[in-house]
Amino acid sequence: MDFFTFKNDEAFCEEVPLAKIAELVGTPVYVYSKSTLDHHCRKLAEAFAPYATLPCYAVKANSNLTLLKMIFSHGFGADVVSLGELERAVKAGVDPHKVMYSGVGKAKHEIERALNLDIMAFNVESLAELAMIAALARSSGQSAAISIRVNPNIDAKTNPKIATGLHSTKFGIAENDLPDVLELIKKNKEELRLCGVSCHIGSQILDLTPLKQAAERMVNIAQELIKQGYEIQFIDMGGGVGIKYLEHQNAPDFKEYASVFSRMSCLKGMRLVIEPGRILVGNCGILLTKIILEKKTLQRRFVVVDAAMNDFIRPTLYGAEHEILPVRLGGVAEGSSRASWTQADVVGPICETGDFIGIAKSLPSTEVTRSGELLFVRGCGAYGFSMASNYNSRPRTAEVLVDGNHLITIRKRETLEDLWRLEI
Ligand code: LLP
Repeated sequence: MDFFTFKNDEAFCEEVPLAKIAELVGTPVYVYSKSTLDHHCRKLAEAFAPYATLPCYAVKANSNLTLLKMIFSHGFGADVVSLGELERAVKAGVDPHKVMYSGVGKAKHEIERALNLDIMAFNVESLAELAMIAALARSSGQSAAISIRVNPNIDAKTNPKIATGLHSTKFGIAENDLPDVLELIKKNKEELRLCGVSCHIGSQILDLTPLKQAAERMVNIAQELIKQGYEIQFIDMGGGVGIKYLEHQNAPDFKEYASVFSRMSCLKGMRLVIEPGRILVGNCGILLTKIILEKKTLQRRFVVVDAAMNDFIRPTLYGAEHEILPVRLGGVAEGSSRASWTQADVVGPICETGDFIGIAKSLPSTEVTRSGELLFVRGCGAYGFSMASNYNSRPRTAEVLVDGNHLITIRKRETLEDLWRLEI
């Protein structure tokens, strides 16, 4: 569900025409819908209400401070993977006791800051990391809350680049290695408090079966640890639930997502932690771009736009497919016969063949796709701006938020000076 709709053949975000945004802010620009984000946060909270759940938003999906503030205002915590994400979350008002710190390579200074903030827990991914945390906690006279990130060797059946649940990946600790981890925790009782178990098997998961298997595995591990006398307070099931990017796709809704954890309700006293990213913000944002020109070659029709792989890398990095539509439909109503539309590759100006936003996309070849007209790419709220770069010395786009008929810029477009500001 989102609030990007067509009214009289013209695309809107809530009450604001996308064309108006392009006129006021320029292109390319990421446009977010506040109502969509609030709706998703509410629906998620409602669906998980039967279990004692703490959603810790995965900051990496979209780390804009304004969106973080909105998400934390729903009482959510944060899942962070770097000092930058941690500081952003703190700046946006997160309660540090609701912060999970994940990642296979936490640096000393990052661990120290998180210890000082007394975060909810470190998701520990190796024996070496555990030893490092213990040493740092000891030297500062602190005690670190620890959750063991288990690698359950479960195939999430998603793109291999974002699958993290198999032993062939760098993530987590295999169940076989748990005795060594527990041994180290016992030896460092003052410095390490084991309070949870975690896992995250991958992202953009559309079939929930693997997630359910992982949940069952985690419940068993937690129960075993409790038997051994550990005070396990939560099971962190990570994030990963996918969204619908294309018309024909089916994605789980919030209720189906929550139903994966039905066994958790019998775990009296233990909390469920989830780390949703994409499912909250993915469909809250679009990328608005202007057509520079159209170019026909012997083999293809290219629509060259002013957004490129530096602004939005998902298509070329993962082969991700996003819906691309004209902002003005010009008489061709959405969903009605598109028989006259032809295939076009929507490409950016960057000097790489891999610079595309969409391959073989169906688009009208009328005045609505002429030079100066606008297209918008759906489903860009997650891993859009947060993965943008300055490649080809292109300033990063602006980000705007629409709330009803209000439009605010929540991140300014970078200037040319910003490109070399830090260079000596
Ligand atoms: N928790 C952990 C430990 C994670 O590694 C991730 C994502 C999440 C939570 C949130 O997952 P989500 O609910 O958003 O699926 N750039 C890729 C996605 C990379 C996901 C990395 N980890 C993309 O554009 O598809």
